[in-house]
Amino acid sequence: MEVRTVGVVGLGTMGAGIAQVCVQAGFDTIGREVSTELAERGRSTVDHYLARGVEKGRLTAEEKGAALGRLTLSTELADLAPCDLVIEAIVEQAEAKKDLFAELDRIVTQEAILATNTSALSVTEIASATTRPQRVVGMHFFNPAPVLPLVEVVRTELTDPAAHDVAYEFALALGKQPIRCSDTPGFVVNRILIPVLNDCVRVLDEAGVTPEDLDKAMLHGVRWPIGPCALIDLIGIDVHVHASEALWEAYREPRMAPPPRLVAMAKAGLLGRKSGRGFFAY
Ligand SMILES: NC(=O)c1ccc[n+]([C@@H]2O[C@H](COP(=O)([O-])OP(=O)(O)OC[C@H]3O[C@@H](n4cnc5c(N)ncnc54)[C@H](O)[C@@H]3O)[C@@H](O)[C@H]2O)c1
Repeated sequence: MEVRTVGVVGLGTMGAGIAQVCVQAGFDTIGREVSTELAERGRSTVDHYLARGVEKGRLTAEEKGAALGRLTLSTELADLAPCDLVIEAIVEQAEAKKDLFAELDRIVTQEAILATNTSALSVTEIASATTRPQRVVGMHFFNPAPVLPLVEVVRTELTDPAAHDVAYEFALALGKQPIRCSDTPGFVVNRILIPVLNDCVRVLDEAGVTPEDLDKAMLHGVRWPIGPCALIDLIGIDVHVHASEALWEAYREPRMAPPPRLVAMAKAGLLGRKSGRGFFAY
């Protein structure tokens, strides 16, 4: 099966980036949002980053125009009917994702593959909302999706290996560096990264170190490409806390529980880059 038309549901931080990667790789892409305003905001995000690409000489103005021309917006889920593959990137809530997958299941063809970009929810549980769990996979992109090459292509116990292969090949066609893995909490990177970032936050108080100095320590002592506090701000404090809670529920390892400092920041609306303030001001 060949993927020609792609649907991206949710054009927020991840969805807009995924849609950008798809149109840049030449795929006709239908982006669905809950309102025209949010859909347009998604398109302007894509436009903005493509324009930066043109400024930096990574693509021509004609290529940018052609890429944007491949992006269609909709607020109607039914408009995703022609999609061979739909990538879901809505809020990280199991019920919302299951409702969406149940609806998508009724809209797209029996052949079509449904993929979730969930960070920490069970792909198996999301797939259970459909009549085609064999055609459901995880495609876990990393933030920012147009920049970071990794895609974790996740199979459940019920995923047809052929569907898993189609998703893997599609990630390759996007120019990504996919890996194959099973549906375990946090998959590969978050299973490792989230407890490490939680350790970093706890060290802030334990060692009496400022976020600036902690980032400096990891940048210059370990040569991390980005400091842990800057990374959590980029991920979004709320997104990190959510993912952390899911891992804690799954494994019950204390390091996986979100540090109270992060929970307090999320409650205060200090969400990182997207709210203008987290560990740092933006
Ligand atoms: N932010 C990250 O670093 C990151 C990285 C990898 C994966 N993820 C995962 O990607 C998903 C999206 O995260 P995000 O950070 O982009 O969130 P976000 O809040 O930036 O965007 C979510 C978007 O989905 C839209 N939406 C909600 N319900 C919808 C529906 N039924 N149909 C269409 N649009 C709908 C919202 O209006 C919003 O614009 C989550 O599952 C998250 O766990 C996030």
